[in-house]
Amino acid sequence: MTDQNLAVIVLAAGQGTRMKSTLPKVLHPLAGAPMLAHVLATARALDPATVITVVRHERDQVAAAVEIELPGSAIVDQDEVPGTGRAVEQAIGALPGGFEGDVLVLNGDVPLLNADTLLGFLGRHRDRGVAASVLSARFADPNGYGRIVRDVDGAFDRIVEQKDADDAERLIDEVNAGVYAFGAGALRDQLANLTTENAQGEKYLTDIIGLLRAAGSEVEAVPVSEPWLVAGVNDRAQLAETAARLNALIVRGWQLAGVTIEDPATTWIDLAVRLEPDAVIRPGTQLKGATVVETGAVVGPDTTLVDCEIGAGAEVKRTDGTLAVIGAGASVGPFAFLRPGTVLGADGKIGTFVETKNATIGRGSKVPHLSYIGDTEIGVESNVGAGSITANYDGVNKHRTEIGSHVRTGSHGVFVAPVRIGDGAYTGAGTVVRKDVPPGALAVNVAPQRNIDRWVAANRPGTAAAEAAARAGSGEDVD
Ligand code: UD1
Ligand code: CA
Repeated sequence: MTDQNLAVIVLAAGQGTRMKSTLPKVLHPLAGAPMLAHVLATARALDPATVITVVRHERDQVAAAVEIELPGSAIVDQDEVPGTGRAVEQAIGALPGGFEGDVLVLNGDVPLLNADTLLGFLGRHRDRGVAASVLSARFADPNGYGRIVRDVDGAFDRIVEQKDADDAERLIDEVNAGVYAFGAGALRDQLANLTTENAQGEKYLTDIIGLLRAAGSEVEAVPVSEPWLVAGVNDRAQLAETAARLNALIVRGWQLAGVTIEDPATTWIDLAVRLEPDAVIRPGTQLKGATVVETGAVVGPDTTLVDCEIGAGAEVKRTDGTLAVIGAGASVGPFAFLRPGTVLGADGKIGTFVETKNATIGRGSKVPHLSYIGDTEIGVESNVGAGSITANYDGVNKHRTEIGSHVRTGSHGVFVAPVRIGDGAYTGAGTVVRKDVPPGALAVNVAPQRNIDRWVAANRPGTAAAEAAARAGSGEDVD
């Protein structure tokens, strides 16, 4: 049920300078979704009355990501005054009129936080009736974070940013996680008192704590159960650490759901992937986008699948695939390249060093070796010979090849599209098929072979080949 007394503000206006990227920091992907999408999904799970996202740097790109994750939610543009305090000050204006509930502020670059942690934090904030609560964590390396300063009897006093901290304060290992709960009234009152008099010339949201404390209000810093939950992403190293942590959680989740994942350390699974129990994921495998692997299928080793569907019991080995649908019991690889629009029927095969694109290969049909099959439809139970190429591109346009059912094509065939091979037809080895082949016909167009006796002796005298031929008795010397 919607919590009418809860508003969530997500801060996503910063540039993320330390990423050194043209992509806004909050849009860097983690497990296949922008960092910000993870934060918004958590916000949505709290079912608050409103979610307000503050944007500025590359605002259109960031706003578009918000619209995808939380369609119709409020987006507020931060003005040129920098700082997390300014961001919240402007977001407050978008709260429903007269809102006097709790305002939960989340940093857009703290993506691993989950709803359970936040609900516990919020519950405690409400139980204690304090003006503000801050989630804190003890980090072995607190570098870069704001520090939680406590007074002599341990009471939370204020937050000092790393750049404003003195040597003693920098030794504090309890950090501000960037997650805050405020009473709306207390927050409104103190936002007006923020200044930019600090090392970064920004309005710090964190200064609200000291201001509230000075005004006699109660504030609390609440340590989080596990520090990794509140790891912030400020540079690429932290991005990789956070991605690895999230991946480990995803992998473990699937293992507990009945999927065999042989090597968690080298297996990467996006959040939107779906795996069925008894699927087997072998080492070195990346499952991306909306990939689905059905029960009993074996994927990997060394396989990357983006938006693919792998049917029950299929086997996909050392393969790179995008937008491909592999039927139940089918076999793919090793070393296959499945490009978008590949559809392999049940019990079919796309074998070694085979590239496919826009190709429907019917039930039980096989393309076992060294082939390119593009813009093609193949019926059922056909076999495409080793080294076959569909020549689908005339330099300007793409054309289709149609191969019927129960067809047998010889090795090293070229199918010059548009062309059609009828049901039950055969083609000879090395055939360049330029004309349609009727059902049941054999197509051949390779010239009959002529053997020119003693050609090597005549044209390559004195070579090792000529000597070998002479030893094999290829004929007398030629005069
Ligand atoms: C902030 C906290 C720090 C805390 C850390 C936790 C402040 C002043 N400091 O520092 O105490 O330990 O997070 O991760 O808040 N943003 C805006 N508008 C701005 C600036 C930032 O919306 O003008 C957004 C950013 O997009 C980001 C978030 O606020 O999502 C935090 O900004 P960032 O610059 O990363 O703050 P930190 O230096 O990490
Ligand atoms: Ca940060």
